[in-house]
Amino acid sequence: MCGIIGVVQKRGQVAPFLHQALKRLEYRGYDSVGMTTISSGHLHMKKDKGKIEEVHKKLNLDEMPGSIGIGHTRWATHGAPSQYNAHPHFDCSNEIAVVHNGVIDNFLELREELGSKGHKFSSETDTEVIPHMLEDYILDGMSLTEALTEVTHRIEGTYAIVAMTTKQDGKIVCTRDGNPLVIGKREGATYVSSDIPAFLPMTKDMILLLDGEVATLTTDGVEIRKLSNGAEVERETIEISWTADQAQKGGFPHFMLKEIHEQPDAIRNTLRLRPEVLQEAAKLIHEAKRVYFLAMGTSGYAAIAGKHMFASLAGILPDFELASDFSDTVYNALSEKDCVVAITQSGETTDTMMAVKYAKTFGVRVIALTNVVGSSITRIADHTVITQAGPEIGVAATKTFMVQLTALAQMALALSELTGFLDNKVIEAKRRFLEAMPDIVSEVISRNEERARRLAGLLYDQPSLLFLGRGISQATAEEGALKLKEISYNHAEAYSAGQSKHGPIALVQDDYPVFFIAPRDETRNRIIGNIMEMKARGASIISVIERSDEELKGLSDHWFAIPDGIEPEFSTMPYVVPLQLFSYYMARRKGFDPDKPRNLAKSVTVL
Ligand code: F6R
Repeated sequence: MCGIIGVVQKRGQVAPFLHQALKRLEYRGYDSVGMTTISSGHLHMKKDKGKIEEVHKKLNLDEMPGSIGIGHTRWATHGAPSQYNAHPHFDCSNEIAVVHNGVIDNFLELREELGSKGHKFSSETDTEVIPHMLEDYILDGMSLTEALTEVTHRIEGTYAIVAMTTKQDGKIVCTRDGNPLVIGKREGATYVSSDIPAFLPMTKDMILLLDGEVATLTTDGVEIRKLSNGAEVERETIEISWTADQAQKGGFPHFMLKEIHEQPDAIRNTLRLRPEVLQEAAKLIHEAKRVYFLAMGTSGYAAIAGKHMFASLAGILPDFELASDFSDTVYNALSEKDCVVAITQSGETTDTMMAVKYAKTFGVRVIALTNVVGSSITRIADHTVITQAGPEIGVAATKTFMVQLTALAQMALALSELTGFLDNKVIEAKRRFLEAMPDIVSEVISRNEERARRLAGLLYDQPSLLFLGRGISQATAEEGALKLKEISYNHAEAYSAGQSKHGPIALVQDDYPVFFIAPRDETRNRIIGNIMEMKARGASIISVIERSDEELKGLSDHWFAIPDGIEPEFSTMPYVVPLQLFSYYMARRKGFDPDKPRNLAKSVTVL
């Protein structure tokens, strides 16, 4: 939700870098974009509604003077996407520029107060109160760092804020509470951004900024202080393991397709998680009275698949709850004996963060499963498991879903080992099977990509599609339907195949497309029954099945083939791949950009 970048460098124009960095952040929001630089004591500004390249074509974002600048790509919350609501925002005298990610809850009250003092506003955003407040504090003689510190004492809500002023040239000041900001550093230049890929081509040295801290960036480095008492904070530099190439399209037309193809490597790397990390997670789960899996969206479907894995492999059945609804569902029925596993690829999703914070007030122990080192969730969790997908730029999650499943499978096996639920030989055999998964997924991609493309050519104008599965395959079906809705805008609904005859079957008429996720597991005979029911009503059956399953091929109008003999607990991993590819080609066939679906942003940092 909104991408922020700031850079202060010794020499050279920052504008071309800001422009490219914003492109790497565009997955966070893309309804408008803006940049401001300082040169010869003046602010230079370009901003407008639209995606970055549309705005660049109109305004030439690269042509701005100055070696210090900030930029923003927006996902609108307060105020429609427009030129005047685009960030950066300014004070009355155009000497202070601010970009912000988050929501200022008390902005109306502050706006009224500032208005009564004569401040003039030029947008409908909550953000604009910040430069006007900074203006007053700086007029009172404060430094930009002190002024921003004061602002944080007055505003309520969640935020990542980056500010600079012509009056105190050569520095950028930033702070955060509830929204991400990371700092990058190299000789002669310092960066701040909402996410690592923005500055990855320039440096792999990262410094974390935590909630409740303010940082002052100069070309010599960064000084971090606590907002509460101004005390200086020592913070070590972390070396980022991601490569700049991972954040490029690498010859693929879209990040989403590249990330689908990266899944075998992502699984391989996540299978190298250290055993102690998995064992500690297993121990916390074992010691708990009740275990809750909390997540949103795709991570939620990984959680549901994970629930099946834990039941089958480790004999415990965690509750899955949508993080957004957790406090409204559990009320006070939590205790320090419980354990929460929070699953969030970004580690920043506000719904998940709030649910975890709620759980923590009861003393619940928290395990975070995330793809981002140093993300917000890792700072409040008791234990963290980091998946190894590398940066995921496509808004629709693919490889991060895959590695969540990989990690959950390993956690379930570690728990089984700890409790003795499964025989050690069985656990070893399951582990060996997981080791083969990268090659299996690779084969599924190569055998099904062209099929997915052709099927999209046949089904692209279908107004509605149904996705059915039983047991763990219901999670696969849910993820398939979500991908399709997100990027191709077809209405798609997933259901338990068992439940389908209790209502959704009424939708079915001639040629209505119904996808069946039908591995040869113990649900198979009942799935065949459901296929027959749908066929009898004229549905067009598209199945995801074992390669040798001639019986189901005979019942299907179209099918995707998966290698035989997948261990049932791991079936979501290969079976979801044709659905990811199908969604991607549906979006392409309809002329939509799969990397930037409308109304969505990758990391949802509002409630
Ligand atoms: C779907 C998608 C979203 C996210 C959801 C949670 O493709 O990306 O549904 O899964 O917003 O995000 P994280 O995992 O970052 O908490």
